[in-house]
Amino acid sequence: MIIRNEEPSDIDTIAEVTKAAFKDYSYSQQTEHLTIHDLRVAGALTISLVSEIGGQVVGHIALSPVTISDGTTNWYGLGPVSVLPEYQGHRIGTALVNSGLALLKSSNSNGIVLLGLPTYFNRFGFWSYPQLIHEGTPQEVFVAKSLVERVPNGTVEFHQAFKQLSIIEKDAIADVIIDYAIAGIKVDLADPVIGSLIQKEILTEMPDGKVMMRPSVLAEYDSYFAQVSQFRATEMSRVHKNPILAAVTYGNG
Ligand SMILES: CC(C)(COP(=O)(O)OP(=O)(O)OC[C@H]1O[C@@H](n2cnc3c(N)ncnc32)[C@H](O)[C@@H]1OP(=O)(O)O)[C@@H](O)C(=O)NCCC(=O)NCCS
Repeated sequence: MIIRNEEPSDIDTIAEVTKAAFKDYSYSQQTEHLTIHDLRVAGALTISLVSEIGGQVVGHIALSPVTISDGTTNWYGLGPVSVLPEYQGHRIGTALVNSGLALLKSSNSNGIVLLGLPTYFNRFGFWSYPQLIHEGTPQEVFVAKSLVERVPNGTVEFHQAFKQLSIIEKDAIADVIIDYAIAGIKVDLADPVIGSLIQKEILTEMPDGKVMMRPSVLAEYDSYFAQVSQFRATEMSRVHKNPILAAVTYGNG
């Protein structure tokens, strides 16, 4: 097995390997390949290694900068890390993680954080620390490994590229945009997808059981949808204020 930096010709394969690795895991929203793409476009894919066997890319690891509220710098977020399902359990993940950590150490980085699979990452020295927090994440699945003495004391933010919407969330948002009315819209609040959008604060619950869309928050996840949503809201507001347009739009009977 060879571990090497990604080449431009690996980009599509990395996306395919990532999609395949996360495909059957319920904890995944199947958006990890989008995160890698956005990190790369933003110039924030600090480390992107592939593992290659017999000329085939079978695994990948990404590392990107994080920010910490106490001002600590030079910490990185590990992930996604992916191994093709048929190659899992052959120490490829171990080799990728160890190589990523070695590269960070050699470049005098201060530490690494990651979300998820603590039972896997404990073996590499990742542990949960009460003073290091990722908002909205249970403490036990947010783990860190310091490469220096000190563990920071604050709230960690991953790169913007980690904010992604799943396909079903995008479908739900499209429905909301289409049905948008000036006073908010009625949705099924028991629908977990709606619940997830409310939790992300893209939708806000109103007292009458309706929700309002928040284009400014949506923009953090999807700028195109945010623009469409903003346009729709502005248009609805214009129609609402103009009785002639309202009559044309809603009918006057
Ligand atoms: C997690 C993943 C990267 C591990 O890669 P891998 O090559 O299959 O793992 P390794 O062969 O290096 O495993 C080393 C050890 O970890 C254990 N392990 C593997 N996957 C594990 C998991 N999901 N949870 C806990 N332990 C795990 C193995 O059993 C092995 O244990 P052993 O030392 O007692 O034999 C790979 O399974 C994968 O791509 N999973 C789907 C994507 C994912 O969940 N990525 C991680 C979150 S970003």
